[in-house]
Amino acid sequence: MVETPSPKQVAGEAAAAHVQSGMILGLGTGSTVAFFLEALAARIQAEALEVCGVPTSLQTAEKAQQLGIPLTTLEKNPVLDLVVDGADEVDKHFRLIKGGGGALLREKIVAASAAEVLIIVGAGKMVKRLGTTFLLPVEIMPYGYLSTRDRVAKLGQCSPFVRITEAGEPFVTDNGNFILDCRFEEGIKNPEAMHATLSQIPGVAEVGLFLNLCHQVIEGGEDGEAILHQRKS
Ligand code: A5P
Repeated sequence: MVETPSPKQVAGEAAAAHVQSGMILGLGTGSTVAFFLEALAARIQAEALEVCGVPTSLQTAEKAQQLGIPLTTLEKNPVLDLVVDGADEVDKHFRLIKGGGGALLREKIVAASAAEVLIIVGAGKMVKRLGTTFLLPVEIMPYGYLSTRDRVAKLGQCSPFVRITEAGEPFVTDNGNFILDCRFEEGIKNPEAMHATLSQIPGVAEVGLFLNLCHQVIEGGEDGEAILHQRKS
């Protein structure tokens, strides 16, 4: 009996079909992107596809290297044709929460460098309001991090927690920073305003709200079908 692939696998494999030879890619981070990288590597092998990618994390760089996907940097290729990345939540305006894996800062720099951003998600990530199923990650500098956490708490809109590893230490990003995971009891009512407010707090390096950055979403289904959602404006 043939097993139905998981929704994340369905989305990742469908995204690989969007890649054309000659493209400079942005390679996102996470478990859904891992399926994309495998499918992309298979196409490179089978079709002699000529592509290279800017990785958004050390984890993705390592996996791409293992799979034989050529890598490049934003310094060599400042303009990307297509970024393929995952997300933790997507709303109907194609606004995203990202950073569950802690790679949000590099992911946002890479997304902002691309002509096209394609987000791949498994089932259950399309939400009515951001912040209702997932905590909002905010990357902060280690210096004075508890003061930064308290300033975020003082906004009175969310409860921020420093992300902690199993070893009981603060989680450290690829950039040497920490992460605050912010709980909004009723979700984020105005993502644009919240993004602006959080970005102004000293010590905040990046906010995991991706606004006006996503053009298309591929949603993998339990039934093995991939649905493509295209942004109109
Ligand atoms: C990495 O920091 C994140 O932005 C991921 O892209 C996001 O958490 C989605 O991850 P999964 O594909 O593992 O669900």
